[in-house]
Amino acid sequence: MDRTLTLLGIESSCDDTAAAVVRAGAGAEILSSEVLGQTALHEAYGGVVPEIAARAHAERLDGVVETALEKAGVTLEDIDAIAVTAGPGLIGGVLSGVMLARGIAAARGLPLIAVNHLAGHALTPRLTDAVAFPYLMLLVSGGHCQFLLVQGVGRYRRLGGTIDDAPGEAFDKTAKLLGLPQPGGPSVEAEAARGEVTRFHFPRPLLDREGCDMSFSGLKTALLRARDALVAEKGGITLQDRRDLCAGFQAAVAEVLAVKTDRALAMAGVQPTALCVAGGVAANKVIRARLETVSARVGVPFVAPPLRLCTDNAAMIAWAGIEHLRAGFPPSTDFAARPRWPLDESAPALLGSGRKGAKA
Ligand code: KG4
Ligand code: ZN
Repeated sequence: MDRTLTLLGIESSCDDTAAAVVRAGAGAEILSSEVLGQTALHEAYGGVVPEIAARAHAERLDGVVETALEKAGVTLEDIDAIAVTAGPGLIGGVLSGVMLARGIAAARGLPLIAVNHLAGHALTPRLTDAVAFPYLMLLVSGGHCQFLLVQGVGRYRRLGGTIDDAPGEAFDKTAKLLGLPQPGGPSVEAEAARGEVTRFHFPRPLLDREGCDMSFSGLKTALLRARDALVAEKGGITLQDRRDLCAGFQAAVAEVLAVKTDRALAMAGVQPTALCVAGGVAANKVIRARLETVSARVGVPFVAPPLRLCTDNAAMIAWAGIEHLRAGFPPSTDFAARPRWPLDESAPALLGSGRKGAKA
């Protein structure tokens, strides 16, 4: 049986300051998971401002770590190792987390594990649902969009990804263009639920191209054109126009994700044990239903961890640290914080770097 391990996880690669304590023996238990968001700090700028994010992480990390330990009912005496996000992400924030983790590890003589943020997302289905390797993971959020074949700890094959915007970004920009509140995903989904899906047909980019790369930036341009055409014609758009635009947009995103997931499953070369999703966009019910249909047709279970573990958090980082130790990898001694850190070093680089930083 696996030795019981209690890890402190620290995450600060984007706009969430997070710390968590995870204990794993025969099973795994999240003893605490604190996430302090920064939405209000960046709201006025229409995107995450790296300098503001870095300062906020530096100011808040100590307190978040203390709260996570307190809520878990443990002290640093009970911690076996510290896992920290060392990239990819906004470098100032990553550095804040790495420096704090290094400080605590040195002061307490604890092993330190440098975790790839994407590996945290990718390994989460094993924390929540004990999914066995190999499985297909679709990471779909405001900052990421890629298909990963998760073959083992540290063994990831990137089958494809977005070449420009992430879908969450497209939802957020759509909301902005239509005067809906941020984050755009939930507000566009709510409007779309009352819209007529067949009225506007938006492009399904890259469906004609082989493989499972995706593109979402053209969609917002198409939406902008449709909106402006309505304005030119009638002097404005009605509430119903807005609902119909949202429904058409969402249907396009859902179809691209579904068709490309189908292809990724075919490209995997093995029958994966599951189709897993992570990221904020996985909360979308229409998208989720389309993905479930794909997985049912192929005959693999569909696994979507609870939303608080699908979006950025530190429990996934602590868990990745546990997996790392269990796989027999040594603690990380000399490592750098990395703005870019592809999980699959052999895959060609993804183009573009979204509003939340590098995508791969
Ligand atoms: O994973 P996440 O919390 O943060 C990162 O981007 O890393 O994802 C946030 C993104 C935002 O762009 C948000 O608009 C999108 O996920 N999102 C959704 C929904 N809920 C959140 N997109 C579509 N439908 C939703 N229901
Ligand atoms: Zn993330």
